[in-house]
Amino acid sequence: MYNYRKVTDDLYWVGANDHRLALFENIHPLYHGVSYNAYVLLDEKTVLFDTADWSVGRQFIDNVKAVLGGRPLDYLVINHVEPDHAASIEEILLRWPQVRIVTSPKAVILLHQFGFPIDAGQVEEVQEGDSKCFGRHTIAFVSAPMVHWPEAMVSFDTTSGVLFSADAFGSFRALDGKLFADEFHFDSEWLDDARRYYTNIVGKYGPQVQALLNKASSLVGLDNIKFICPLHGPVWRRDLGYLIDKYVHWATYEPEERGVMIVYASMYGNTETAAEVLSTKLAERGVTNTRLYDVSSTHVSYLISDLFKYSHLVLASVTYNLGIFPPMHSFLMDMKALNLQKRTVALVENGSWAPRSGALMREELEKLKHMDILDDSLTMASSLQEQNLGEMDALADAIAASVNQ
Ligand code: FEO
Repeated sequence: MYNYRKVTDDLYWVGANDHRLALFENIHPLYHGVSYNAYVLLDEKTVLFDTADWSVGRQFIDNVKAVLGGRPLDYLVINHVEPDHAASIEEILLRWPQVRIVTSPKAVILLHQFGFPIDAGQVEEVQEGDSKCFGRHTIAFVSAPMVHWPEAMVSFDTTSGVLFSADAFGSFRALDGKLFADEFHFDSEWLDDARRYYTNIVGKYGPQVQALLNKASSLVGLDNIKFICPLHGPVWRRDLGYLIDKYVHWATYEPEERGVMIVYASMYGNTETAAEVLSTKLAERGVTNTRLYDVSSTHVSYLISDLFKYSHLVLASVTYNLGIFPPMHSFLMDMKALNLQKRTVALVENGSWAPRSGALMREELEKLKHMDILDDSLTMASSLQEQNLGEMDALADAIAASVNQ
């Protein structure tokens, strides 16, 4: 049964939700599902913007058919070829073989790499700044390389102010009947999922996201954008500035909040205790915007997400095989992979006979850009002792002073 929603008078959401997928990209846990968004414009010509993952292919096709209401599908605009959006292209080609494909030249290469039977004669390649009229609506195409793949582009309906933003402005979480961000309590219900999606999927490409925001501002004009229609998560029709402000923070790696995220790696609870004592001492100094995480039991996608949120980070790790505890090392590698920068970091190390984790974590952090590693740190042998408390107080003082700057 079809299940679509109207976005404007002649634009329809024809996507679908997947509640069964456990791991997005087979790596990031999903506890509230995900939506794959696609849109149909009913103009003098009919236009489909992107398709959907194969897992929701039947629902997606039912929606497209219902919205078309027997009309042929004239055009398919492909903004992004990643299979969570492109997998159903072949089904579209089988059902509407006359459809003309509008996409970027790099997308055509990827479509062939993924094995889609695209006939060169049915493709209209578009470049940055090209536009195409489908009747009442004229769509302008803007390249968005590395947001999140090299072929990506966004499409802007200059008639109705709709930005089809591909992966940009997307979010984890299924829509479940709602569609617009103003139909949710976005800040409390969705922001964490939006941040976790952005930081883990697109976080590495902050400069490219900044470039897209700048192009949107200069080529389109931010005031002319009335709707943002991403490929995942809710459609935005109100308070677009709120979302754009979040994206500016994330893309420039500027923290959203002054606060401290404490991540500990503890084998028997002793480093955990040190992390707890440090958070108590921070609270006593008025620093209460803190979060404490066990690196062994927290999926790294959540750690990365909060890392983009908070200004300060404390890493507390045991020494393991004379190195950094492996899950903590993996977290550091993810920070590097995602281009994390501009954070203030404090270090706590533990080691029963040869503590090394502090020096090794510092080495890894120094490879990241614009990181401020506090001189104060704490080294303990096996567990926190009375004689460590002076060093712990000094560390808490230094972190509190930095947070309150
Ligand atoms: Fe949701 Fe880059 O695809």
